[in-house]
Amino acid sequence: MPGLTIGDTVPNLELDSTHGKIRIHDYVGDGYAIIFSHPADFTPVCTTEMASMAGYAKEFETRGVKLLGLSCDDVESHRAWVEDVEAYKPGTHLTFPILADPDRSAIQQLNMVDPDEKDARGERLPSRALHVVGPDKAVRLSFLYPACTGRNMDEVLRAVDSLLTAARHRGKVATPANWRPGDRAVIGPGVSDDEARKLFPQGFETADLPSKKGYLRFTEV
Ligand code: BEZ
Repeated sequence: MPGLTIGDTVPNLELDSTHGKIRIHDYVGDGYAIIFSHPADFTPVCTTEMASMAGYAKEFETRGVKLLGLSCDDVESHRAWVEDVEAYKPGTHLTFPILADPDRSAIQQLNMVDPDEKDARGERLPSRALHVVGPDKAVRLSFLYPACTGRNMDEVLRAVDSLLTAARHRGKVATPANWRPGDRAVIGPGVSDDEARKLFPQGFETADLPSKKGYLRFTEV
C-alpha cells in the first residue's frame, strides 16, 4: 500500500490533542519528534505501551526528541484514558500530547491505518505505527507493528540514538546490527579509505573478509 515513507515530508496537519490544537510541523520545530499511533484508548497493549513511553520521555527529551501520541478516539476519551495509564504505572506522568483523529483522516495521511483492525462500528483503526521525524519534517525512520504486538521502547530509543549518531557524522557512518551507544560504528560505503583517514583521525579497523573488498570498516564514534 503506498503511503508516507522514509524521506517524505510529514503532512502539516492541525489536530486536537490533550494539550490543545497542534500543528505537526510547529510541534516538531527545529528538533526531532516521534509520532506514534495506537489502535484505541482503553485497550490492554496500548495502555502498557503508553505507560512505557511515558517512562522513556526524559531520555528522549535529553536527546531533543519530542513525543506525540495518536489514536482515533476523541480528546475527552484520551484524558480519561491517561488517568488509567498513570494509575497502571504509579509515578508515571504523561508529559506529551495525544492527538485525536475521530474522523480517521490523519491516520490515512500518516500511513497509520491497520487494514486488519476495525472498531465495534466497523471503522478503521490505527496500526502501531511510529515515525521519527527530523528537523526538516521528513520521515527518518518508521516502525509498523500490528495490534497484537506491543513495541519495545528500548528499541525506539536505540534507533533514535543510531539516527542521531549518523546525523552527527553527516551520514558518513552507520550503526551495525544490535549496535548500542558506545559501540563502534561502521564507515559508510561511499567513503573512501583516504577520506576515512581524514574524517576519523582516531583510525578505523577493516574486517579481513574472503572477498578482500575492504568494505566493513569499524571506527569509534
Ligand atoms: C490492545 O491494545 O491490547 C489491542 C488493541 C486493538 C486490538 C488488539 C489489542
